[in-house]
Amino acid sequence: MQQTWEFKRHRRLRSSAAMRSLVRENHLTTDDLVYPLFITEGDAIKHEVPSMPGVYQLSLDQLKQEMDELQALGIKSVMLFGVPDEKDEQGSGAYAEDGIVQKATRLIKQEAPDMLVLVDTCLCEYTSHGHCGVIHNGDVDNDKSLELHAKTAVSQAEAGADVIAPSSMMDGFVTVIRQALDEAGFENIPIMSYAVKYASAFFGPFREAAGSAPQFGDRKTYQMDPSNRREALREAGTDVDEGADFLIVKPALSFLDIVRDVRNHFDTPVVAYNVSGEYAMIKAAALNGWIDEQQLVLEKLTAMKRAGADIIITYFAKDAAAWLQN
Ligand code: PBG
Ligand code: ZN
Repeated sequence: MQQTWEFKRHRRLRSSAAMRSLVRENHLTTDDLVYPLFITEGDAIKHEVPSMPGVYQLSLDQLKQEMDELQALGIKSVMLFGVPDEKDEQGSGAYAEDGIVQKATRLIKQEAPDMLVLVDTCLCEYTSHGHCGVIHNGDVDNDKSLELHAKTAVSQAEAGADVIAPSSMMDGFVTVIRQALDEAGFENIPIMSYAVKYASAFFGPFREAAGSAPQFGDRKTYQMDPSNRREALREAGTDVDEGADFLIVKPALSFLDIVRDVRNHFDTPVVAYNVSGEYAMIKAAALNGWIDEQQLVLEKLTAMKRAGADIIITYFAKDAAAWLQN
């Protein structure tokens, strides 16, 4: 052999499944996953969301079975969203003691005490106008909304929520919620802030599932402009200063660069929210037989880990957990 080659043989480390798993850099596990649930008033309701095949609005009586299923799959965390019967200007269902999320939280903590209950803290599912805060002079009023977000967080903590996840993108929401929780004796309840949330077309199916589309205008005065990258670090930075324990970047797939930025700049756990439109898009292609759903979903979720996410909130959690079991 006289020939000396000038190139490297990268394929040596891809030669078999065992070799590939030996050198694998990032791993998706069921521990990373949070499963979102839409809880509705009523009885015996398991209503499939048209734009999200496989995702259901569930009434309270369905929760026991749902928890059993999740626990059998090894899923240990859920994120609750409410679909109330009634809405009003002030979103009072969000902070009612017998609000739908409060009732669901109590029930889950009773029936599956080990299940970690994360609650979305916002008003949009409860306001008649569908915005995330209260309306004043035709726009969402930041400071008037804060008080109601704080009230919502405290009532969710009183119901037994393990993690408060404020999603309204009001300035100062972490400060105000942290203070209210502390004053109510919940200094040990962490805040998972939707710190970096873009005004995205990918939320469409969620708004169908939660009945929370804004009745006028859009969310662009409070959610971020998808064109911006540096702004994400300003948003995350203030939330960390205000006491956020986790930082969410949302949506995930179009914003993996932002997930990486947040991972590089902060030492809190980083959460990628793989949102409803991302789910709908993949499901639609899969149902048409156009893609290999299992491979594609695992590739996407692993990409979120590779980008720097510690935790992934995803409607694919049950599918992924089942695939990971095999
Ligand atoms: C509430 C909230 C939304 C989502 C999470 N919390 C909707 C919105 O901001 O319009 C979106 C989640 C998804 O699309 O899966 N503010
Ligand atoms: Zn909202």
